[in-house]
Amino acid sequence: AVAALVTGTGLTAAPEASPAGTHDHEYRQAQPVGEPTKRFTLTAGTATVRVSGRDVAAWAFDGQVPGPELIATVGDVLEVTLRNRDIERGVTLHWHGYDVPNDQDGVPDVTQAAVSPGQEFVYRFRADQAGTYWYHTHSVSDVGVRMGLYGVLVVRPAPVTGVDVTVPVHTLAGLSLPVARTEPVEAGVPVRLRLINTDSTTHRYALAGAPFRVAAIDGSDLRGPTPVAETAVLIPAGGRYDLVFTAPATPVALLVDGRSVWSTGPVSTATGSWPVLDPLSYGTGSPVPWSRFDREFTLVLDRGLDLRGLLPRYAHTVNGAAAPDIPPQVVRLGDVVKFTIVNRSLVVHPWHLHGHHVLVLARDGTPATGSPLWWDSFDVRPGEVWEVAFRADNPGMWANHCHNLPHADAGMMLHLMYR
Ligand code: C2O
Ligand code: CU
Repeated sequence: AVAALVTGTGLTAAPEASPAGTHDHEYRQAQPVGEPTKRFTLTAGTATVRVSGRDVAAWAFDGQVPGPELIATVGDVLEVTLRNRDIERGVTLHWHGYDVPNDQDGVPDVTQAAVSPGQEFVYRFRADQAGTYWYHTHSVSDVGVRMGLYGVLVVRPAPVTGVDVTVPVHTLAGLSLPVARTEPVEAGVPVRLRLINTDSTTHRYALAGAPFRVAAIDGSDLRGPTPVAETAVLIPAGGRYDLVFTAPATPVALLVDGRSVWSTGPVSTATGSWPVLDPLSYGTGSPVPWSRFDREFTLVLDRGLDLRGLLPRYAHTVNGAAAPDIPPQVVRLGDVVKFTIVNRSLVVHPWHLHGHHVLVLARDGTPATGSPLWWDSFDVRPGEVWEVAFRADNPGMWANHCHNLPHADAGMMLHLMYR
């Protein structure tokens, strides 16, 4: 069970989270963080890493790409000390998808100063949201993440029975990570594959050899979906899918864009023609918990010319403006907020709101009828219109941006601000 979210502020106490997870709390961070039960230190530095037989110049945590896996259990208090050895452009840790208190969110010049070479910053937060997440630098994040400053964060609900594997997919200097690995699993053993897309573009995942169930997306459990066979899933930049299955007596392989990255033995299956699962209708469904919205915002994503520099350049725009000129979205604690996101451009924009999960209401006017989908990262394709909503339950100043990081860097970044 998820720890109760208690308030010490006189606001309404949050309800106990349901087994399938909900993110409808009035206020979620009043408990004092408490004494750390799990400590990690991550040292960022330039490094040479070996990928598929090639030496690649990288920026790495503890000399490795991806950085060390941070694994916690619900109830832990995490303390992570970030040290910067020699990354001149500064480093922070952003806990992608994990709704930390604002001062732990790791956004330079918004929630903290970037950590300079020779300095450190200590992050502390409660591990009360079971699920699959990742961490990455948010300082010059386009370059920093591409160069390798990222890693896995998993909060497990309880000690693991069966096999629990994380598969963070990333492109480093044009090479694909992870390199393929084989891990024999005995028949009958339950397996959870935690798929994490840490790239800036969508990847296609297929599981050959066993029907699977999508147990969670973006760290939020799905209610009652049934296993599917010979189906692919598309994971947006920044997104996470947990697939679960029971190991059959024959081998199983996970393919990303047709390349095997994890298997229990040799499998030869063409998965390229399999249909793609649409999560909007996957699961048992449940009504939207809100009947009205306190604030509604429309975000029109497009492309425009940025004339502010010496040379005009293309910018990725929101409502005709590019960062830092996009006005913040102002909300009050407890508000139910609706975003309508319209993509008028010709490219996909993987949308990511910090500090909150949004409930998907509809895409192109068609309501989401499947399991309640509480997401933090979702692809808005060209021409699409998404309606999502959330409870403003986590005060602060939050980045709200496209997670194709070159797009964010070229203007597609705004902030959600509590007043
Ligand atoms: Cu992984 Cu501001 O994001
Ligand atoms: Cu984009």
